[in-house]
Amino acid sequence: MTVASRLNPPLKWAGGKRWLIPHLLPLWEQYTDYRLVEPFCGGLAVSLGLAPKRALLNDINPHLLNFYRWLQKGLVISSEMENEKETYYRARARFNALIKTVERDSKEAAGLFYYLNRTGYNGLCRFNRKGEFNVPFGRYKRINYVRDFRDYAPLLQRWEFELGDFTALETSSGDFVYADPPYDVEFTQYAQQGFSWDDQVRLAQWLHAHPGPVVASNQASDRIVELYGDLGFTLTFLDAPRRIACTGDRTPAREILALKLNA
Ligand SMILES: C[S@@+](CC[C@H](N)C(=O)[O-])C[C@H]1O[C@@H](n2cnc3c(N)ncnc32)[C@H](O)[C@@H]1O
Repeated sequence: MTVASRLNPPLKWAGGKRWLIPHLLPLWEQYTDYRLVEPFCGGLAVSLGLAPKRALLNDINPHLLNFYRWLQKGLVISSEMENEKETYYRARARFNALIKTVERDSKEAAGLFYYLNRTGYNGLCRFNRKGEFNVPFGRYKRINYVRDFRDYAPLLQRWEFELGDFTALETSSGDFVYADPPYDVEFTQYAQQGFSWDDQVRLAQWLHAHPGPVVASNQASDRIVELYGDLGFTLTFLDAPRRIACTGDRTPAREILALKLNA
């Protein structure tokens, strides 16, 4: 077993694709010399599961990226972490004060982001119009907090992290792109950013133009099936397991993998 496969995704992240690893591994195994590019790296379930030697991992959420940059440096969290309502709301207020300043990218903000993610409702990452994190206390029975993330540093130091919209990424034929955008229709509020139908179309065209291999995940809505089908992708249908939805709905969803391999 490699070092990487022992590392669990450190955060709870909506749409986490750990369940997809057994489906992705046989595809990835033909390309392990390639750089893995994830335009929507989210909770790192896929990159930690595939453990590439080289990777370019991107997301539009600045707090997520700050957390990963501190993991690269070997984060050890020293602030208070308790599964307790008052401590949670105090930490939330402190986090909201920090992110309005240059301290947004501080080690303290990274530690608070981890604590809020583990302790808040359903691992959601949601902000109000003023840009304040507003997820309520999660009421979990028990939480196993991790303080020392130094085991992640050697692997994450080999990878590059980028913050921004996926179209800013520069890719080439030596890149294997795995794209897992916010699902079509539901689930579109990540980091204050909606991901509209226009964004889905923009993404499919961007992936189509990529000169190397591509695997894209999405909800198998009719229009997604049509979009990727018309662009000549090969489609595979899967049943996704329970997922976190804002409504608390955990029914399985029909999922597609759109493939453009041997490119
Ligand atoms: C479904 S999640 C990815 C989950 C990830 N594959 C995992 O297994 O944990 C989608 C991610 O896309 C990010 N995102 C939303 N809009 C984006 C954009 N325009 N460019 C880049 N990332 C974006 C969100 O912040 C979120 O983390």
